[in-house]
Amino acid sequence: MSTSAPPAGGPRFPGNGLHPLARALNASVRFDRRLWREDIQGSLAHAAELRAQGLLTAADHDAICAGLAAIADDIAAGRFDWDEALEDVHMNIEARLTERVGEAGRRLHTGRSRNDQVATDLRLWVMAAADRCRAALAGLRTALVERAAETVEVLLPGYTHLQRAQPVRLALHLMAYYEMFTRDDARLADARGRAAVMPLGSAALAGTGFPYDRARVAAALGFTRPSANALDAVSDRDFAVEAIAAAALGMTHLSRLGEELVLWSTAEFGFVELDPAWTTGSSIMPQKRNPDVCELLRGKAGRVTGDLVALLTVLKGLPLAYNKDLQEDKEPVFDALDTLHDCAAAAEGIVRTARFQETRLRAALDDGGGYPTATELADYLVERGVPFRDAYASAAEVVRRCRDTGRRLDELSAAELAAADARFGPDVAARLTPEAAVERRRALGGTSRAQVQAQILAAREALAAFPIDQKHRQKESK
Ligand code: ARG
Repeated sequence: MSTSAPPAGGPRFPGNGLHPLARALNASVRFDRRLWREDIQGSLAHAAELRAQGLLTAADHDAICAGLAAIADDIAAGRFDWDEALEDVHMNIEARLTERVGEAGRRLHTGRSRNDQVATDLRLWVMAAADRCRAALAGLRTALVERAAETVEVLLPGYTHLQRAQPVRLALHLMAYYEMFTRDDARLADARGRAAVMPLGSAALAGTGFPYDRARVAAALGFTRPSANALDAVSDRDFAVEAIAAAALGMTHLSRLGEELVLWSTAEFGFVELDPAWTTGSSIMPQKRNPDVCELLRGKAGRVTGDLVALLTVLKGLPLAYNKDLQEDKEPVFDALDTLHDCAAAAEGIVRTARFQETRLRAALDDGGGYPTATELADYLVERGVPFRDAYASAAEVVRRCRDTGRRLDELSAAELAAADARFGPDVAARLTPEAAVERRRALGGTSRAQVQAQILAAREALAAFPIDQKHRQKESK
């Protein structure tokens, strides 16, 4: 039984009378103020619906619209005084609105709860952030295609197990990353689609008792439809999980690209020189350039995977419907999509300015250490009716002879080849150049010139049809 009186005076906002530590833990305005645009947008659409249903007078509606517009100006100009005692972005804006326009402001929350309000705001934010990330990825994908088109004639060893395997075109290698980022784009588009469902009108958990045309409000806010179940709408954060998951996989791909560029820019590989705009100098070793940004593409993948695990863990034990745990959704979502956006944009710059070292790439094919065209020997015999497993054994014998005598495959004489397997004819030598090996791989998706050019053409067509305007590339100002 409590004997303490309720806190006296002032508006009865949640948080009055809280212990300072509880207040600090409870407050989210430090990070959720970033939702101010979406919050005002949602309030304007909600107010318009209240007006349309006769729940607000024209005068009150006008006052609310003018008040929210003035608040938006203040926030954009940095003049807005955020108050932690008012807990979150929603209460800060509503309290300021009431200060400005009086009683009309106190009518805005009719038929609404912060539960459907915050879910609406976050969905709007995720939709815009997904567009920004898709635009940044489109920039990176474009850079990869352009560099691929320039490097169709450049060959290098392709690797498996980080061992030289078979010759490939550099363009095939670059276009492999294009494929990864294209799948990331599709996943973000898909996540955006499931975010585009509007919670407003669900109120606290049971739906609103006031007349409310939810489809009209959804359309006004750019959602595809209103949510189907009020209890689900206020507690669902699947859309946020999906967006973070798409970002985590995108960062995993950026990490692989970053790692490969770190490796390729070592003296040991020497396959690429990174532009000084994307590397740093060492503080004590003047000869060094460090691939810090590529390392961060790799390192930041870890935190975005962490964001995904954090939100999944927040959700897994929650009973229906809204629980305050859900306030922990925002920082991982913001962090994951910001990180993906910025890293994709940086990767675009790195790829555009990378200087591929054609002499080193070629030397890696020719220096005899890897025998990257040995498969050709086996394929040659297969074409003459030899079962592949037997042909493989003969090819292995040729490689052994080269290794024993320190020569390249194409340095063996026809007699030596015939000694390894009598079915090798003099025409086999022409098969052993890297050029011949790549050109034989003409099946769909292979490394022949025609196949790589077809991949580049398809990519250019996809990018030309990319649906997001370049204005989305500008980052949201926080
Ligand atoms: N700041 C809160 C959040 O982010 C808003 C919703 C609060 N709702 C409530 N019933 N306390 O989740």
